[in-house]
Amino acid sequence: MNKKIPVIIWGATGFTGGELLRIIARHPYMEVVGAVSRSKAGNPIGATHPHLRFAYPNTNFISPDEGGEINADLVFLALPHKAAAEMAKKRLSAGQKVVDLSADFRLKDQEQYRRWYETEHPCPELLGESVYGLPELHRSEIAGARLISGVGCNATSAIFALLPIAKAGLIENARIECRVGSSEGGAEAKEGSLHALRSRSLRMVSPFLHRHMAEVIQELSLPEEAMSMAVTAVELVRGIQCIAHVTLKKKLREADIWKLFRSQWANEPFVSISPAKPAHFRIPDPKFVLGSNRVLTGFALAEDGKRAIMASAIDNLIKGAAGSAIQSANIMFGVEETAGLEMMPLYPA
Ligand SMILES: NC(=O)c1ccc[n+]([C@@H]2O[C@H](COP(=O)([O-])OP(=O)(O)OC[C@H]3O[C@@H](n4cnc5c(N)ncnc54)[C@H](OP(=O)(O)O)[C@@H]3O)[C@@H](O)[C@H]2O)c1
Repeated sequence: MNKKIPVIIWGATGFTGGELLRIIARHPYMEVVGAVSRSKAGNPIGATHPHLRFAYPNTNFISPDEGGEINADLVFLALPHKAAAEMAKKRLSAGQKVVDLSADFRLKDQEQYRRWYETEHPCPELLGESVYGLPELHRSEIAGARLISGVGCNATSAIFALLPIAKAGLIENARIECRVGSSEGGAEAKEGSLHALRSRSLRMVSPFLHRHMAEVIQELSLPEEAMSMAVTAVELVRGIQCIAHVTLKKKLREADIWKLFRSQWANEPFVSISPAKPAHFRIPDPKFVLGSNRVLTGFALAEDGKRAIMASAIDNLIKGAAGSAIQSANIMFGVEETAGLEMMPLYPA
């Protein structure tokens, strides 16, 4: 490809916006032609994202009005839900392809959106055409799409933990627990993100029915009554560890689960299998994927062969947001799926 794909990022001052800027700064086929902000228009990108000062030495944020005038081929929306859907509609009608990171286009059913997000969907007419932006599930549909939905970071971790046994129809019930870092809450200061209050506490948010469960149910075709999902804020900035306690429909051996995992993940460029045994592996820990688009997924089977722990670890800002968004955009534009995303995890971090 001779010319780089011109990209504009809306919500570029936020955490996922910053992560998009960081990854695209070294992307071989994309270049940022606009980083939109309502609050920081006219200010240098490096003032808000100091780690990017050298990558964007002469670039300022632009206003939404300026953003609307730019002729980009690809738009990433790193906005809160509802604001994202409204902007998606405008950008699509301007002929741009849209990858939205918010929750607005994840659920296919407008009623489910109303139920889980407790608000009306601003443009339900687009729900039918949006594609859930997890390439490991929807690679071929993503290729032909003009609107990709973001993925819930906790939902992504749960999907990676459960997909092989869900596809095999083996889940009797699953109790999902995600342990998450503070960046999941975004860059805006809130009571739950204040260091003095959040640090060293273990706060469970949305016990039992976390809203990301709606995506897990939809994407894995699991019955709601067999599921629960809770999220606990732990002492991390980035990262999610998902632990799902599963009762299986039939007795399995470890070799059976290995077989399912291998057939599911063998050709996936970003997924590694990390079960509890043998000892040189261990149950997925986000410390080993931070800063990367990688996923660890693994399991432990109880002696009875009927109870299992299915687990995964991701970096919420990358595989759970900006990384999956860029991976999907790579597929949409027909470039290598892994372009820009082959960075190694940081360790220790
Ligand atoms: N954080 C994560 O781990 C994560 C993971 C997966 C998906 N997501 C989703 O990605 C989206 C962005 O998340 P984030 O964590 O990056 O949030 P964030 O840090 O709060 O950033 C959002 C940005 O959007 C702009 N904004 C806020 N309200 C707006 C409004 N009403 N209209 C237009 N712009 C507005 C703000 O920039 P200005 O004020 O400068 O305009 C803000 O910096 C959210 O929908 C979130 O659910 C986040």
